[in-house]
Amino acid sequence: MRQPLVMGNWKMNGRRSMVENLLKAVMIDVGDLAGVDIAVCPPYPYLGLVTDRLAVNGIVACGAQDVSAYTDGAYTGEVSAEMARDVGCRFAIIGHSERRTLFGETDEVVAQKFARAVAADLTPVLCVGETAADRDAGRTQEVVLRQLSAVFKECGSGAFTRAVVAYEPVWAIGSGRAASPEEAQKVHRFIRDVVAQKSAQAAAHLRILYGGSVKAQNARELFGQDDIDGGLIGGASLAGADFVGICRAACIG
Ligand code: PGA
Repeated sequence: MRQPLVMGNWKMNGRRSMVENLLKAVMIDVGDLAGVDIAVCPPYPYLGLVTDRLAVNGIVACGAQDVSAYTDGAYTGEVSAEMARDVGCRFAIIGHSERRTLFGETDEVVAQKFARAVAADLTPVLCVGETAADRDAGRTQEVVLRQLSAVFKECGSGAFTRAVVAYEPVWAIGSGRAASPEEAQKVHRFIRDVVAQKSAQAAAHLRILYGGSVKAQNARELFGQDDIDGGLIGGASLAGADFVGICRAACIG
């Protein structure tokens, strides 16, 4: 039995006051939710503030939105996985499509970041997913397989033993057009099958999140699919009530 995970990806949004208010709203309202793991991923400057606040309630975990492919050293501007762990993060989003497309992260760099996160005792949340062009060309599985294979190559067949995968079709991110539950389920099943070819046990325990225009209104149906184990939430994680609504849908779904 996989416990669902709902994770908020705040991206490059917020100021100290927004962080404080959002956390307050989320922490109060998730108090009665059982059977769902919840995490938020603020921008780097607010990680310490968030982990301090969250330590008080112990229900919501914190994640980094990215980590460096390097360990500590002379890498100006980078933040290592060890640092994220040191300030109290438990998760790290790895290979988000915005990092892949806007910041040129290749599958190999993403795999190195994944390895760094694991080595630092963080749970990596590997984002995979196809662009609209890939999808139109019928290449969804090919793209997802390539993205997963790079991680297997770097980390070996046990790569996903302690990890999370987020299927995020690029065309669904921030577009208001989520994948249909059936469409997403198909890709989630494919991801689990790919992982099962290396390790049946890892595949059975692997949480595969869906991301891309998840709202409180469509969350329950998405999370109700056999291989959808929660969500990675962008826009809707910036409003306390919306995010809590999605967490609630995961409990019931
Ligand atoms: P969205 O973003 O929920 O705003 O579509 C999801 C993501 O990028 O992780």
